[in-house]
Amino acid sequence: MSTVVAVANQKGGVGKTNLTGNLAAELAAQGCSVVVVDLDPQATLTAWLVGRSDVVGTAEVLLGEAKASDALLDVPTFGVRLLAAVPDRLRVADRTLASEVGSERRLAKALRGVEADVVLCDCPPSMGILTASALLACEVVLVPTTPTAEGIDGLTQFRENLARLSEAFDRELRARVVVTSYNDRLRLAREAREAISTIAGADLCGVVIRESVAVREAVGHRVPIRSYRPGNTGAADYAALAQEVF
Ligand SMILES: Nc1ncnc2c1ncn2[C@@H]1O[C@H](COP(=O)(O)OP(=O)(O)OP(=O)(O)O)[C@@H](O)[C@H]1O
Ligand SMILES: [Mg+2]
Repeated sequence: MSTVVAVANQKGGVGKTNLTGNLAAELAAQGCSVVVVDLDPQATLTAWLVGRSDVVGTAEVLLGEAKASDALLDVPTFGVRLLAAVPDRLRVADRTLASEVGSERRLAKALRGVEADVVLCDCPPSMGILTASALLACEVVLVPTTPTAEGIDGLTQFRENLARLSEAFDRELRARVVVTSYNDRLRLAREAREAISTIAGADLCGVVIRESVAVREAVGHRVPIRSYRPGNTGAADYAALAQEVF
């Protein structure tokens, strides 16, 4: 049985995709068999790992046209396998699923056929059917949050949404909050981290992902930070996060 992790926050640009790709590469380097699922019609994770490609992936699996285990792409640069997103097709799948009762359970069912130690799902910045599918399929929800006023607001909204979904699905969804893009020289960031700690309480991860230009650059070079700059703070932070969460 795999441990399924949803990386989710309806707020955009908080570091979901960055965390998914780098944490996946870390876990793979530590010997885990890792699958990543791109559930975002923007396909940012897919573009980072393999470039834009017209392949069978998340959309076809959600529509029941392909088996997840047959659609996985090998990504040697990250040491993982990817269920890829193709923007137009995943948008169509999103609309189709939204009009079908019970379709939010399809991902959970599809992932049961996948052999891996860990499955990480990169969610889109919305609380639609794609995010709901990941939340229903997962054992752990990782919630990247930026240490800003918008980040705090987004986290508050996300926790309310999560509580509503937990009730609707009659399933406890436990979130682990991760502060991302943290710069401890900024008073604003330090204060925001305090506020996030008050909101998240014991659900806050001790590890923070520090702001780092190299983390951004690694995306452009199509590799994880651990191979782009092994000594970088970003590489150390994602390694520490892998230890803390797993
Ligand atoms: N630790 C970091 N240091 C510096 N930049 C970062 C860090 N983490 C993420 N970023 C940058 O912030 C931007 C947003 O990150 P990312 O794409 O991971 O967010 P996201 O939550 O997935 O966005 P979306 O909601 O659009 O899917 C990217 O340009 C990324 O490179
Ligand atoms: Mg993203």
